[in-house]
Amino acid sequence: METFSLQKPSIDFAEDIDAYRVAFQAAKDSMDGTGALRHMDSAAAWLAYNALLEHEDSLPENMVLAEQFIYVRKRDQRIVGMIQFRHTLNDHLLQYGGHIGYSVRPDERRKGYAKRMLRDCLAYCKQKGLEKVLITCKVENEASRRTIIACGGVYENTTYYAADDVHFQRYWVAL
Ligand SMILES: CC(C)(COP(=O)(O)OP(=O)(O)OC[C@H]1O[C@@H](n2cnc3c(N)ncnc32)[C@H](O)[C@@H]1OP(=O)(O)O)[C@@H](O)C(=O)NCCC(=O)NCCS
Repeated sequence: METFSLQKPSIDFAEDIDAYRVAFQAAKDSMDGTGALRHMDSAAAWLAYNALLEHEDSLPENMVLAEQFIYVRKRDQRIVGMIQFRHTLNDHLLQYGGHIGYSVRPDERRKGYAKRMLRDCLAYCKQKGLEKVLITCKVENEASRRTIIACGGVYENTTYYAADDVHFQRYWVAL
């Protein structure tokens, strides 16, 4: 059986981090759960920015404490997914973004990886003392909705984010 590791990204994965970004750009896909990766032109810059998000005293304005993870398949040490855990919810995250964002590499989808990665991340959130976690998805994102529901998400409501003309479904997972 395949095994995976939910771990903090390091410079050892620089080449694969860049490949992950390029794969999403080529597929014109949404780089959810990767923090600022879409705006970065190097893995090193992304890692440095992620580090700022981990400590109160270096947090950029309007950001909350957040931890970035990669999901690594042990067999080949390939990054198959990325997931970001926001420790708290500001108004925007409460309405639209939630505690957790994630994505799976385009050529690794439909293998159950998103469900596994989210379950592993939820276990980590529980270890960190959270009792419930908010996860959201765009109404038209069937794959993400099914992932959330498979991991215990209970639907609360749908919100409308006018700036992007997007409706988000909001789900709570009890840990
Ligand atoms: C959403 C995403 C993470 C799913 O990753 P994945 O590894 O393919 O998902 P899984 O294989 O674990 O499948 C999860 C569920 O979604 C379903 N699913 C997966 N892809 C699907 C698709 N294209 N259409 C419909 N359902 C789909 C699976 O059947 C499964 O449902 P089930 O448990 O009821 O059978 C991936 O499509 C992705 O990275 N998308 C772009 C980023 C994104 O949308 N992130 C979520 C933001 S809220």
